[in-house]
Amino acid sequence: MSMLHSPRLRRLRSSEPLRTLVRETTVSPGDLILPLFATGGERIRRPVSSMPGVDQTSVDELLRDAEDALTLGIPAVLLFGIPDRKDETGSSGWEEEGVVQRAVRALKSELPEMLVITDVCLCEYTSHGHCGVLRGDVVDNDATLPLLARMAVSHAGAGADIVAPSDMMDRRVAVIRSALDENGFSDTPILAYSAKYASAFYGPFREAAESTPQFGDRRGYQMDPANVAEALREVRLDVQEGADIIMIKPALAYLDVIHRVKAETGYPLCAYHVSGEYAMVMAAGAHGWIDADRAMREVLTSIKRAGADMIITYYARQFARGSRV
Ligand code: PBG
Repeated sequence: MSMLHSPRLRRLRSSEPLRTLVRETTVSPGDLILPLFATGGERIRRPVSSMPGVDQTSVDELLRDAEDALTLGIPAVLLFGIPDRKDETGSSGWEEEGVVQRAVRALKSELPEMLVITDVCLCEYTSHGHCGVLRGDVVDNDATLPLLARMAVSHAGAGADIVAPSDMMDRRVAVIRSALDENGFSDTPILAYSAKYASAFYGPFREAAESTPQFGDRRGYQMDPANVAEALREVRLDVQEGADIIMIKPALAYLDVIHRVKAETGYPLCAYHVSGEYAMVMAAGAHGWIDADRAMREVLTSIKRAGADMIITYYARQFARGSRV
């Protein structure tokens, strides 16, 4: 009679070297993308109160943060602009001397190895704070498309390595892809915010980017948090239209979406660990209610474990500073 040994899984948990050998998921600084908020002026650094450790910075200060990130092994930044001037159509978003355009040129000349991704959306540049132009009080999808294309071409012209449309208009990836190709940027990839949900977790970002809608909300264009089959449709459509990398946003409350999209499509997948996800861990940490650093590492690990290839996170530098390589 054979003796059946019941497995004892604790054997492989008994020391750190053993745990390291059998670890299934690792997060390294090379997986992370750091968002940065560019504003006008010089030597400006304005802390965002709801996001400790995150500042609005003028281009000179932004360069320092980017250099720090690069030194820590973070390969990419995602740029948002806070323009001096806003109007109905968001025209400061495609100015030659716009704040993002200036930041991109400075980054590519000072830190050429840093991958520069730009957020393409009208909400930071429109007086009403919506992600597209208005017809009455409705965001006009098709009237918005050429403006997004213009902004994307302007970012690519300044030297952006990747453009990332976050507006959630239908067919914007197709229109941006054609515009990039026609203007000599056929090698510039598109990172599409494909499944972007109408989420309560964007609150602190809207303080950082000064992009709160002045009326209504974004539920007419961003996705219903209840839907996952629709996320798969969005992702497949974006890839058909020419997206190179797809994004799921937010991350933590949508791990099932990340998992299904990765498992069912296999496309390169970026998850956005958004402002509210960052703020809630930092706030609880500041109260001494949780160990914020451990909680952040656990959350970022869960996002990779769910299937993300890369993560946009405001915690990128703190993560990299503490990580044992
Ligand atoms: C712009 C945009 C938003 C975020 C990224 N791009 C805000 C929004 O849709 O209201 C949110 C990022 C975050 O919360 O960290 N459309």
